[in-house]
Amino acid sequence: MIIRSDGDRLTIQSPAKINLFLDVLGRREDGFHDLETVICAIDLQDTLEMRVVAGNEITLHLHGNGTGQREPLPEGEDNIIVKALRLLAQSSGVDQGMEVTLTKRIPSAAGLGGASSNAAAVLLGAARLWQRDWSLEQLAGVAAEVGSDVPFFLHGPAAICRGRGEIVQPLQNRLRLHLVLVHPPAGLSTARVFAHCQPGRPVSSAALIEALETGNRRALLDELHNSLQRTAAGLEPWVGRLEELLSGSGCLGFQMSGSGTSFFAICAHRQHARQVAARLRSQQPGQVDYASTLDGKKWLSGWPC
Ligand code: C5P
Repeated sequence: MIIRSDGDRLTIQSPAKINLFLDVLGRREDGFHDLETVICAIDLQDTLEMRVVAGNEITLHLHGNGTGQREPLPEGEDNIIVKALRLLAQSSGVDQGMEVTLTKRIPSAAGLGGASSNAAAVLLGAARLWQRDWSLEQLAGVAAEVGSDVPFFLHGPAAICRGRGEIVQPLQNRLRLHLVLVHPPAGLSTARVFAHCQPGRPVSSAALIEALETGNRRALLDELHNSLQRTAAGLEPWVGRLEELLSGSGCLGFQMSGSGTSFFAICAHRQHARQVAARLRSQQPGQVDYASTLDGKKWLSGWPC
């Protein structure tokens, strides 16, 4: 999450995430599921531009809405960006407006957290532009109301998240993972995948966390886990197809991210990622991108602004 200010405007790079580990522990009374998930932010990023406007209107412009996306993004009040800003303004008595322009690169319905990341980004941006002294903890309270994955993006770039995802404990990631991302032509709604999942016996994330914090890629590859992958495979045939294609792609390991349908393949280095991507592209699995995990040095650079 990189924030740059230019007079009364801000530009924010809003990253996607991958789930290296995701275990569904059980269904809760409120309809959500308790989770244990290890998340890393990656350098596939949307760009948000923000500026304060006269009055108290919150407006959103979507650049290239629909291009490269499976479906057009929700507009106006239905968009998570507008909801997040509205909630922040209401909960803290702000009576100012905001204009936001979003240039979208992260596919939606992909399990990559693009919408959650955008919501966290505008909360950070609004704190600066509305000139309030909110701490990250205060913003995290609003973030949790907006969506389960939103608080992660205030605390990244690597964390273990519990509860419904909103209880975030940052982790040290000593690995720079070189990734190939595959976005198949069909997406899945998070709510639909959770509605069909069957929590199983809990799996421990301890070995994966140790691998991440000690920089042991070999051990990390053995500990990848996503208990939503099987559910997603039962709902969308592309998930099974990608499992098969990625098994023969020459990558070191792969997994679906979040509730799907995007997959990440871990490669040895950038050149290896190019070879894996070329092989996959020839099999036309959908859109294929490179990415790597973000390190902590630049995380929240520009904050507090
Ligand atoms: O919190 P968020 O709006 O991202 O969640 C979308 C939907 O996914 C929820 O309405 C819920 O149905 C499901 N979900 C869940 N358990 C979680 C997170 C999400 O059941 N921990």
